[in-house]
Amino acid sequence: MVDHHQRHHHVQLIRKGVNVSTVIHHVDEENGCLISIKRSRPKLLFFLTFCSFLSCCLLLISSPSSTFGFPLSLYSYEAEDEIISDAKAPLCSSVSNGTICCDRSSIRSDICIMKGDIRTNSSSFSIFLYTSDNISGDLNELRHEEKIKPYTRKWEPSTMATIDELTLVSKNSNSTTENRHKCDVYHDVPAVFFSTGGFTGNVYHEFNDGLIPLYITSQKFNKKVVFVILEYHDWWITKYEDVLSQLSDYEAVDFNGDNRTHCFSEAVVGLRIHDELAINSSSMPGNKTIGDFHNVLDSSYLPRIHDLVHEEPEKTRDPEKPKLVIISRNGSRAIMNQDLLVKMAEKIGFAVEILWPDKTTELAKIYRSLNSSDVMVGVHGAAMTHFLFMRPGSVFIQVVPLGTNWAAETYYGGPAKKLGLRYIGYEILPKESSLYDEYESNDVVLKDPNSVNDRGWEFTKKIYLDRQKVRLNLARFRKHLVRSHFYIMAKRNHAQI
Ligand SMILES: *[C@@H]1O[C@H](CO)[C@@H](O)[C@H](O)[C@H]1NC(C)=O
Ligand SMILES: *[C@@H]1O[C@H](CO)[C@@H](O)[C@H](O)[C@H]1NC(C)=O
Ligand SMILES: *[C@@H]1O[C@H](CO)[C@@H](O)[C@H](O)[C@H]1NC(C)=O
Ligand SMILES: *[C@@H]1O[C@H](CO)[C@@H](O)[C@H](O)[C@H]1NC(C)=O
Ligand SMILES: *[C@@H]1O[C@H](CO)[C@@H](O)[C@H](O)[C@H]1NC(C)=O
Ligand SMILES: *[C@@H]1O[C@H](CO)[C@@H](O)[C@H](O)[C@H]1NC(C)=O
Ligand SMILES: *[C@@H]1O[C@H](CO)[C@@H](O)[C@H](O)[C@H]1NC(C)=O
Ligand SMILES: *[C@@H]1O[C@H](CO)[C@@H](O)[C@H](O)[C@H]1NC(C)=O
Ligand SMILES: *[C@@H]1O[C@H](CO)[C@@H](O)[C@H](O)[C@H]1NC(C)=O
Repeated sequence: MVDHHQRHHHVQLIRKGVNVSTVIHHVDEENGCLISIKRSRPKLLFFLTFCSFLSCCLLLISSPSSTFGFPLSLYSYEAEDEIISDAKAPLCSSVSNGTICCDRSSIRSDICIMKGDIRTNSSSFSIFLYTSDNISGDLNELRHEEKIKPYTRKWEPSTMATIDELTLVSKNSNSTTENRHKCDVYHDVPAVFFSTGGFTGNVYHEFNDGLIPLYITSQKFNKKVVFVILEYHDWWITKYEDVLSQLSDYEAVDFNGDNRTHCFSEAVVGLRIHDELAINSSSMPGNKTIGDFHNVLDSSYLPRIHDLVHEEPEKTRDPEKPKLVIISRNGSRAIMNQDLLVKMAEKIGFAVEILWPDKTTELAKIYRSLNSSDVMVGVHGAAMTHFLFMRPGSVFIQVVPLGTNWAAETYYGGPAKKLGLRYIGYEILPKESSLYDEYESNDVVLKDPNSVNDRGWEFTKKIYLDRQKVRLNLARFRKHLVRSHFYIMAKRNHAQI
């Protein structure tokens, strides 16, 4: 079971009179962990480090146009001017031929768009854009350079430190093409470059940092796009090939592992990201929503599920009974009285199925279970990401252990509502926590989890995430199940009229 933890700070970023309240998340993992983030610095120090990281970026990208003297074709929008962007069309949405345009206005990710004669050189982690203006000066003159890490956790310096950096180079080679390095592979569709490093390996991050931003960024190409992937993993391609085939008609390129020169006439480097597991439809072409992303998943898994129906027929169940799926955990954050919960749910009138998803569980199988269910129940954790597999209009009950209220709402509750699920956050009482057996009833661990979280990430992780189990107060929980059952039945009856 992949474990997934988050921590947050509200940081007031005050620069040039602009007040931006932004949320800093820290994600740590037990397994599937590629990096480990030390969280021992006091907040203030962290805040300062974050700020200096930002200003450092601003220095790095500051106005190359003046240095090279080609102001017309070079754009780099910096966070400085554009942290709050209210433009309907995103920056760099129209880029003219022979130019590189970088939009660094988002706190979450940078993105650069290149148009013209684009050629990769993976051994130097570069992408060249050759131009042919009639300008006096040396051939192959370096005109402009941009650096970018194509991953969507820009505000986490420690995560970004592990991500490969690309250099985008604009070069003048006059009208001759001889001075340009040779193409090995020509592509007649655009490229989208992104990294599957960082926290890839945790299902929450795979959707939040990867697939949804990939959809946001590439959907407008209508599958006529090649994905060029940094820190490419075969397992990731295998795990998500159903989804990838709905986003692109072409085989993905392993950037680091393929040293051939790939040539394109348009490239997007980096991914746009809107919010936690969400899509802001007013920033999308055609007003696409998270519901449209859900529909992409549905099309993705349909062929495979069609086969599965023959390979593994579903256990026969009474179609009259609403189906309730429990996304179950062993160990930390397990439901200790799950057997009783199942019995109770069955008594109320549900057909109950239990899933124990882990890293190797085929997603199409999870999709199949959830797509045919009316209610999903689970304890806060990365596996809650599977709410994305539920049909809009169904019910998602997240059991929220002590000390996880903010993360449960931010990462799953809020996003689930945006998908159109009926969301219930069941915040447990101290008595429903295994911690109740370990601490005095007036201990802050039970009485004031926020103050414990304020002490630092190690405390949150050690106390609330790694060691807490849940013993549901069934009488209290029952009300929510009864109401959900009633809601589902009413919806069905309504649909029949
Ligand atoms: C863009 O530039 C490339 C090479 O620089 C050229 O081959 C192509 O025809 C140009 N496309 C347009 C639409 O001008
Ligand atoms: C591509 O990268 C390699 C390794 O850094 C370098 O030797 C070569 O000159 C680069 N090619 C171009 C066209 O810059
Ligand atoms: C470059 O200049 C030459 C002569 O000055 C002209 O014939 C040619 O069309 C120009 N090419 C471009 C791409 O502007
Ligand atoms: C580019 O080519 C034009 C003629 O096509 C020539 O006049 C000009 O000097 C060349 N520029 C450079 C930088 O060599
Ligand atoms: C590309 O990789 C292949 C296989 O690893 C190697 O034989 C070849 O020399 C490399 N070419 C360049 C230009 O680095
Ligand atoms: C969605 O995007 C629009 C336009 O970019 C912006 O004005 C609005 O604030 C965004 N909404 C949210 C909830 O972020
Ligand atoms: C997107 O939404 C806007 C505002 O709600 C509306 O004016 C526009 O027609 C919509 N576009 C599409 C393609 O649905
Ligand atoms: C999911 O359920 C809906 C409604 O029952 C159905 O139309 C759709 O085909 C299902 N999707 C898949 C992938 O099985
Ligand atoms: C968790 O425990 C159950 C019951 O003992 C078992 O069936 C399941 O395989 C376990 N799951 C994981 C992921 O360890």
